[in-house]
Amino acid sequence: TQSRRFRIAAIPGDGVGAEVVAAGRQVLDALAADSGGALEFAWTEFPWGCDHYARTGAMMDDDGLERVRGFDALYFGAVGWPTVPDHVSLWGLRLRLCQNLDQWANVRPVHFLPGVAGPLRAADTEDLDWVVVRENSEGEYGGFGGRNFSGRGPGAEVAVQSAVFTEAGCERIMRFAFDLARTRARRKVSSVTKSNAQQYGMVLWDEVFARVAADYPDVETESVLVDAMAAKFVLRPQDLSVVVASNLHADILSDLGSALAGSLGLAASANLNPERRFPGMFEPVHGSAPDIAGQGVCNPVGAIGSAALMLRHLGLPAEADRVERAVRAACAQGVLTRDVGGTATTKDVTAAVVDHLGD
Ligand code: NAI
Ligand code: MG
Repeated sequence: TQSRRFRIAAIPGDGVGAEVVAAGRQVLDALAADSGGALEFAWTEFPWGCDHYARTGAMMDDDGLERVRGFDALYFGAVGWPTVPDHVSLWGLRLRLCQNLDQWANVRPVHFLPGVAGPLRAADTEDLDWVVVRENSEGEYGGFGGRNFSGRGPGAEVAVQSAVFTEAGCERIMRFAFDLARTRARRKVSSVTKSNAQQYGMVLWDEVFARVAADYPDVETESVLVDAMAAKFVLRPQDLSVVVASNLHADILSDLGSALAGSLGLAASANLNPERRFPGMFEPVHGSAPDIAGQGVCNPVGAIGSAALMLRHLGLPAEADRVERAVRAACAQGVLTRDVGGTATTKDVTAAVVDHLGD
């Protein structure tokens, strides 16, 4: 067989980002070592993040976008540290990468794992399998607004933070969600808005959703307000399959989803440019977790799951399945970090996943 070589840009970032990216790399390198030369990952690490900011005054190198865009994929940890304001670190690295690489679809599956008890104990884990599809290019994170215009000073400041919804932006993420629903056992798309209160952008979203849905008569649909959807995640989780939502709403709902699955440390995510003009970026949903960083105890499952999403996007579905099966086997065996009730370290879990790659 011909050897397949993938060039991956690793961007560990801050806090537990370094620990979980190391875990994911270890799993992928084990896959490659086991492939008899059929598969190879060539890693280049970019030391961007809050330490880089302290050294240089910028979260990433000026020519960073040019340097990463030729890679097959980006593998990202997390960004953010108490030394830098969060909006500076997030905009300076993660949002800068996603937006300039036109990764307009953010796919966030929620898997319920054997051996991990989430708050939804009564639910049958077989029923629970969602993907949150997040609009990743506009909406509430468009960055439009301003502060302190009109010359008002401290104590009387005014700030405006606008959300931008374009018909094209809504339509492409919805078509993406419907196409994804067609690949799943349950063909259903739930659209989330707050169009009762936000009468411009979110009403446009609803209208586009109704129009796109008409092209997919084989897919069940519903439109749910975001507050009701938060309740539905908890109360009727078996009723969901693909959930499509704006940048902000999907950000919140995907954290809720991963907490319901047992921990924020479990959730994986893929930032995709579906036209494939740019590489995708694969990262756990969680942040840099300063409260537990450096202790070797963070959960690597979200980052390893993100590596599996990367494999699938690179055209390696069998390898992706193998990694996901190995994660399930390690969890079922009880090798769990403390956020999900165990005593295992990051390294223990990673080693158990690597062991189960051979199952
Ligand atoms: P966080 O996700 O870092 O942590 C929230 C809670 O989840 C903490 O109790 C943490 O210990 C726990 N947690 C997170 N990841 C875990 C893991 N792998 N294993 C076990 N437990 C885990 O969110 P927080 O505290 O709001 O933000 C911390 C920093 O991360 C901030 O600077 C924030 O801006 C940044 N952040 C970055 C993101 C990204 O790079 N994509 C996403 C979210 C936050
Ligand atoms: Mg988030």
